[in-house]
Amino acid sequence: MQTVFNTIKSIALKIDHAIKTEDLGYSDSANSSGEEQLKLDVKSDYIIEQAFKDISIVKALVSEEKEGVLLLHEKGKYTICYDPLDGSSLVDVNLSVGSIFGIYEGELTGENLVASAYVVYGPRIELMITTRHGKPLHYRAQGEEFNLIGEVSLQGKGKLNAPGGTQQNWCDYHKTFIDDLFAQGYRLRYSGGMVPDLHQILLKGGGLFSYPGTFDKPEGKLRQLFEVMPFALMYEQAGGQAITNKGSRLLELTPKHPHDTSPCFFGSNFEIEALKIAYGIKA
Ligand code: AHG
Ligand code: MN
Ligand code: MN
Repeated sequence: MQTVFNTIKSIALKIDHAIKTEDLGYSDSANSSGEEQLKLDVKSDYIIEQAFKDISIVKALVSEEKEGVLLLHEKGKYTICYDPLDGSSLVDVNLSVGSIFGIYEGELTGENLVASAYVVYGPRIELMITTRHGKPLHYRAQGEEFNLIGEVSLQGKGKLNAPGGTQQNWCDYHKTFIDDLFAQGYRLRYSGGMVPDLHQILLKGGGLFSYPGTFDKPEGKLRQLFEVMPFALMYEQAGGQAITNKGSRLLELTPKHPHDTSPCFFGSNFEIEALKIAYGIKA
């Protein structure tokens, strides 16, 4: 597993360099979710594929930017599901973007997610890694080195509210719930990139990030294998919760297709318990 984490560190440096130096325009293709691809989406995907292709413990890759599963080594142990460049619509306005990695052993289910990692490309490069044991570990790059900053723990209750999805398409009880949080003093923090938005909530002690099912997208927008479940593991290991709109753990999901999405809610315990009540999941 350490080999995988070390490879992610070298990938982070290469993608950061590409973001800083390469063409920020669109390619002439779309991905499996029908989204237009930036040249940087394609390049980041290529960097990751090249980095893992000779690592024999990696059985296969599943990417936001590829249709199916790319088999690398039949006898490999892990399948790595990744979003090479998350928040790529923010590239042209120079906001933070990220990469997300879910490391699965066996079938691609939440239960088989054994570790996850994400990289934030901001003013500095940061990396968060977690396994099923212990708290997430927070690193910051200095030159080519990643220095450990420390373990990350969520407090029981936070102050930040990051509500995703087009408000016009929220159902009434979701809108009431989000409005109630603001009425309690929560502050809006939403950049439109789940990596920096969820990273901020993790490092500032807590709050809620929601991406609900909406009238136009009943199953939400965020993809289970390489967006939702890697962050679910981070939030649970940090002492928080990560649930669906039905109240079950996101880590109990089994996608039918690599690009399946799910409504998702990540937060510290107070906000998630409040959400369960608002959604009628708990009396
Ligand atoms: P990507 O750039 O990989 O397609 O993902 C963008 C995602 C996620 O980062 C973010 O939280 C969400 O899309 C934002 O969606 P809205 O613009 O609907 O808020
Ligand atoms: Mn994404
Ligand atoms: Mn992406």
